[in-house]
Amino acid sequence: MRHLIDIRDLTHEEILSLLDLADDIMAHPDSYRERCRYKKLATLFFEPSTRTRLSFEAAMMELGGNVLGFSEAASSSASKGESVADTVRVVGCYADIIAMRHPKEGAPLAAAMHSTVPIINAGDGGHNHPTQTLTDLMTIRRERGSLENFTIGLCGDLKFGRTVHSLIAALTRCKGVKFVCISPDELRLPGYVKQDLLSRSGCGYTEARDLAEVLPELDVLYMTRVQRERFFNEEDYLRLKDCYILTPEKLAGAKDSLAILHPLPRVNEIDTAIDSDKRACYFRQALCGKFVRMALILKLLEEAGK
Ligand code: CP
Repeated sequence: MRHLIDIRDLTHEEILSLLDLADDIMAHPDSYRERCRYKKLATLFFEPSTRTRLSFEAAMMELGGNVLGFSEAASSSASKGESVADTVRVVGCYADIIAMRHPKEGAPLAAAMHSTVPIINAGDGGHNHPTQTLTDLMTIRRERGSLENFTIGLCGDLKFGRTVHSLIAALTRCKGVKFVCISPDELRLPGYVKQDLLSRSGCGYTEARDLAEVLPELDVLYMTRVQRERFFNEEDYLRLKDCYILTPEKLAGAKDSLAILHPLPRVNEIDTAIDSDKRACYFRQALCGKFVRMALILKLLEEAGK
């Protein structure tokens, strides 16, 4: 049974092929309208979401399938103490494929070990978010025309930012990508991401604190939110939450071809005045999310023989 728990569960070639499929679905949606007729996707969300859950559900609906699930642990039997393993064993009796978000790192992996249907990790704690990475890669490729030879600035909460960790894992396999990791000292990349992914890959990377200083050298800027829900201490959150705010004034020093991405939700870190700038890609990025999830559902169902 093929699952998607970590972006590295897919080869680079498989990722490119999924992005090709997503582009084709975007260009010819009518050709895919019946592809999942009578199939069901279960969305098991133990943690809040807007984009990931709804784009998964829209994806399955646009493929002609149906959706079921829950959007918070409190409305599932997890609130009575049921384990993730038992939950997916049971949901596999009702659905052909499962997308799961969970606040605990590793929960989707544990689910995959007990599931009879494909499990897709829709975000696990501060760990991984592989379908956001497919979304980000599709966006970068559409905006730049290629996934090679560019400098990306990753800015904000790099410590708990699961989207950043998964994106680094994918981009270290692309040729000529350089990383600038921009964060306060407290929110730097975890050691395992720096050592296992960045250092081992041989990709160039630097660390910085000042966004304005490095902005002119970037081709892609990946902004992230400082995530209140990951902090143990409210005081630390309040001190760090507005450490990076991208404003039109700061953007004045950036390349005209810069692509600004954000996995969203945004709080304060991108001034809304930037939304109308042609370099702001984050709403186009959210749209890409639906098409990559359509492609992924098709691939995993096909590989599962469903
Ligand atoms: N990008 C993302 O995961 O958004 P949601 O939390 O709204 O799903």
